[in-house]
Amino acid sequence: MKKIILTGDRPTGRLHVGHYVGSLKGRVALQNSGDFDEVYIMIADAQALTDNAEHPEKVRTNVKQVALDYLGVGIDPEKSTIFIQSAIPELPELTTYYMNLVTVARVQRNPTVKAEIQQKNFSSRVPVGFFCYPISQAADITAFRATAVPVGEDQMPMLEQCKEIVHKFNATYGETLTDPDIVLSSNKACLRLPGLDGKAKMSKSLGNCIYLSDEPKDVEEKIRSMFTDPDHIRADQPGRVEGNPVFTYLDAFCTDEHFVEFLPEYQNLDELKAHYMRGGLGDVKVKRFLNQIVQEELSPIRKRRAMWEQRLPDVLDILREGSRRAHEKAAETLADVRRAMRIDYFEQGSL
Ligand code: TRP
Repeated sequence: MKKIILTGDRPTGRLHVGHYVGSLKGRVALQNSGDFDEVYIMIADAQALTDNAEHPEKVRTNVKQVALDYLGVGIDPEKSTIFIQSAIPELPELTTYYMNLVTVARVQRNPTVKAEIQQKNFSSRVPVGFFCYPISQAADITAFRATAVPVGEDQMPMLEQCKEIVHKFNATYGETLTDPDIVLSSNKACLRLPGLDGKAKMSKSLGNCIYLSDEPKDVEEKIRSMFTDPDHIRADQPGRVEGNPVFTYLDAFCTDEHFVEFLPEYQNLDELKAHYMRGGLGDVKVKRFLNQIVQEELSPIRKRRAMWEQRLPDVLDILREGSRRAHEKAAETLADVRRAMRIDYFEQGSL
């Protein structure tokens, strides 16, 4: 069986370092590992429209931003197929058939959908398209016969729902669809990077993000004003590292080599944490260290991104060519699905 990756993001904003450590960095590693036969990275504009019907311009702008973020982090169009969801008409068709295999109650139980309905204050005014997006996401994944789906932890319920659809489809119509596995970061801090303000999640609406495209001075300023341990008022006091986002970011970003490079008086993060907890280590110093690490990580991304920003016609060509290839692949799967469902009337040549 071929090893195939499919993943993607909704273009509702520029991507931030939470996306980066949670999934983008891992995708680039998987892409470069040579272990996969095909890699598909999708800009999920149709999904973004499910709760942005009134703001198509916002989605359009962010298709460009997300494409630049992808190219910036090192998704390589020679190795990965980058495409736009709405360019693949097979996806809504597959969604239509899968909708018959899922109950309303099952979607209502999906924890991510539940949480988003609350967050977005939809109460009883949930758009039908939004409600069905877990099913359309199963279409995204299965259309490409994905075996591996690298995503953030919040997408776990979507993968579970997708697997159920695959099993139900195959049990009903015969073995047709490929069962995908979720791929999560093995670093716990990367699974859900907190916001700069210490809130559970980095999120555009909370204004607590470092974006991949932020300028160095903005990154520095954001890190300088980060939330830490509120009881750690003077450097000589003992501080807490649990629930202290500065240390969570260090857990996510820093390696022993960073100490050699920037802070040689410590060997590793455990020693730094021990000093902080003992007292005598000020927030300013820890934040300065974090800033050096984040700057080093973001600098090549920002440069590559700016380079592509100068070549927008080439970016459009990459998306066009990627969407053409993705369309071909999805068409093959849809043909298999139609055959399995016995709705391939004109292929058979007779009723
Ligand atoms: N739901 C994902 C997000 O919130 C985007 C997405 C759409 C996706 N279809 C997908 C991710 C299929 C992985 C696989 O960003």
